[in-house]
Amino acid sequence: MTAADTRIAPAAVQAAADRIAPHVRHTPLLRRDALPGLLVKAEHLQHSGSFKLRGAANAMLALGADEVVAGSSGNHGIAVATLGRALGVGVTVVMAAGAAEAKEAAIRALGGRVVRVPGGVTDRDRYARDLAARTGAALVPSSDHELVVAGQGTVGLEVLRDAPGLDTIFVPVGGGGLLAGVCLAAAHLRSAVRIIGVEPDRARRYARSVAAGRPVEVPPVDSVADGLRGQRPGEVILPVVRHRVDELIGVDDRAVLRAMALLHRAGIPAEPSGAAALAAHSGSGSPDAALSSSPAATAPRPWAPSDPRTPTPAADRPSDRPPTRGRPIPAGRAARLPCPHPHHFRRRTAMNRIDTAELTELITGYYRETLGDDTLDATSDFFEAGGDSLAAFQIVHRLQELLDEEIAVALVFTYPSPAELAEVVVDDLSLAPASA
Ligand SMILES: Cc1ncc(COP(=O)(O)O)c(C=O)c1O
Repeated sequence: MTAADTRIAPAAVQAAADRIAPHVRHTPLLRRDALPGLLVKAEHLQHSGSFKLRGAANAMLALGADEVVAGSSGNHGIAVATLGRALGVGVTVVMAAGAAEAKEAAIRALGGRVVRVPGGVTDRDRYARDLAARTGAALVPSSDHELVVAGQGTVGLEVLRDAPGLDTIFVPVGGGGLLAGVCLAAAHLRSAVRIIGVEPDRARRYARSVAAGRPVEVPPVDSVADGLRGQRPGEVILPVVRHRVDELIGVDDRAVLRAMALLHRAGIPAEPSGAAALAAHSGSGSPDAALSSSPAATAPRPWAPSDPRTPTPAADRPSDRPPTRGRPIPAGRAARLPCPHPHHFRRRTAMNRIDTAELTELITGYYRETLGDDTLDATSDFFEAGGDSLAAFQIVHRLQELLDEEIAVALVFTYPSPAELAEVVVDDLSLAPASA
């Protein structure tokens, strides 16, 4: 495959940067003492809370439609709804059944309509395409579209211009729009930077497609990195990635969660999809790297994986969990999200050390102090602070410090209210008997 096979000219990324400039922030590259040799592209400070605003803005401004439809796991939908509100454009977001409820709430709070559909990303995107065709609305895909890819590429332009001597960029891969955009930005600037794409280890559709020389679809997978659960490489994206990417690395959920803990300790509120970049870096040992759209690190890392890139067969996962002081976390729990499952509420009597009311107060207080809001209502301020899963993670992390316990952090993503979150956390704490 050659450059001629790619349908997007590298210069489209500069055109996108010019077009979207009034609507997006040029985010900083963060340095932290705890993350030596690394720079973090702080897209959590982007207006909608993620880099997705860039691609959405480029497409919506260029298409100029009054009504748009977008398929999304959440961040793209929030971005489209943010733009829709600013530009007076009607927005419908199609989300798969398992997508984060807090992100749906954010889209609705921004005035967007949300349609939930059964199945995975492929079903969701098919439904969005059909809906757009039926209603005459413009389709703004979350990644596989020339304008969206060019918009995401502005992340790469900023990184490479702000740190021209950079050695490596790690890019988390969901639909692949960010990765393809960064590849195009590097081509446009004639940069020799090394580009590494990072996929969940059970959904390595880009690695497999690049190896096979044709698009390979993988079954729907669950992953703590909710933005990275793609099934099939994009038609527009794959040729760009094949042409320029240097390596594609798979990371497992444990590595992602540990990377996220490191980032939070360094004061950077990464969500799992962004923390995947650090998970890949932690196993690579590359110096002078930038972690795009989220964080980085080395330094003291008691939670760091020995080698996050080691493939973990699904059947082996439960025995592979971090140690807990109480009883072991039952098999499959970390992969089960979002999941206010009834059994959590049946087992409530087993609480110890901290009760639900105390925990609810702790969580509510967290929101009040950190986000200036004492509800979990999805406001744009709330999402600018990093999103619900981040806040939930920080709460659990704080509880770990307070209680000196390991908790199944993956369980607490995206619960709709402090009380429900508290129930689940308490349920996990109850894994450790009071006498332990
Ligand atoms: C925080 C974050 N990082 C990375 C990605 C992957 O982006 P893309 O779909 O362009 O590959 C996503 C996708 O939703 C995301 O939410």
